[in-house]
Amino acid sequence: MNEGAARVLEALRRADGARCSGESLSSELGVSRAAVWKHVESLRRRGYRVEGAAGGGYALRGLPDRLYPEELADDSRRWLAREIHHLEETDSTNRVASELAREGAPSGATVVAERQTAGRGRLGRSFFSPAHCNLYTSIVLRPDLTIAEAPSLILAAAVAVAEAVAGSLDDPGRVEIKWPNDVLIDGLKTSGILMEMSAEATRVGFAILGIGVNLNVDRDAFPEEFRERATSVSAALGRRVDRIAFARGLYGILEGVLDLHAQSGFDALRGRFDPWFRMPGREIEVYGHGPEPLRGRALGIAADGALRVQRADGSVERVIAGDVSLSGSPR
Ligand code: BTN
Repeated sequence: MNEGAARVLEALRRADGARCSGESLSSELGVSRAAVWKHVESLRRRGYRVEGAAGGGYALRGLPDRLYPEELADDSRRWLAREIHHLEETDSTNRVASELAREGAPSGATVVAERQTAGRGRLGRSFFSPAHCNLYTSIVLRPDLTIAEAPSLILAAAVAVAEAVAGSLDDPGRVEIKWPNDVLIDGLKTSGILMEMSAEATRVGFAILGIGVNLNVDRDAFPEEFRERATSVSAALGRRVDRIAFARGLYGILEGVLDLHAQSGFDALRGRFDPWFRMPGREIEVYGHGPEPLRGRALGIAADGALRVQRADGSVERVIAGDVSLSGSPR
């Protein structure tokens, strides 16, 4: 959005629904009334519902359901999503954010897209990313971490997503973190997190934290292979979710969580992670960890984010990546 339109929008927001005359806007902004009208037209093209005409003044009556930077901006955040790149469509926001990171984008630079044509999931899977209903966002991070410590960032992000999702529901008990990167509602996948890294020797050069949250997608819209296992916040809630409010809330929580992680590591977040993590004590199977599935009892999470699993013979295995399925009830 150009600066003039942004300033008109700001003035209309400040008026809080009251009409602003073309004349007052023109003198406040130091531009002609014709220029004010042009900016109003450009706001309308962007989807803002601006009532009125040049003679009778203008009032803001509705915001577009788009994750525009001007809607997601929040001065209370210090570093995360201060720089926001909004795309109507892209293949993958993780790909775009990696490119920005390679070009020198600062930590916290954020990409958000209305639709992804090749949304990436873990283990080479895809992430279903239809237009204008969900949140697809990727954040550039430049953490001071070794490669081995980095996976715990995913768990930190999962805490933020779980808290944001729970904040939208009536009953937080419906929300669960499925190690390592999914957030579930009533056992169904609602969000996935994909972290991709560039390494410099043993340290993280930059990390891209990609988060997809199913907010308003209908369950029927999911491709068949996901339908049985996936849901959205709106399907769980029974009404639409305000995507802008959700994204702003998530970015705010995420900034706080990542600050804590940077200061004191994942241990500082255990108290916020554990309520969402119901795996300890359960019999599980981990796929993709080795040639054979690993079967055992989930013990908990190590400081670096690894899952600790106890085999039947009592030996304890640390799992860094893999897919978990619950094979039994808690012991
Ligand atoms: C998974 O479920 O395995 C992870 C899914 C991560 C999806 C998000 S959507 C935003 C970002 N861009 C991508 O291409 N993927 C992540």
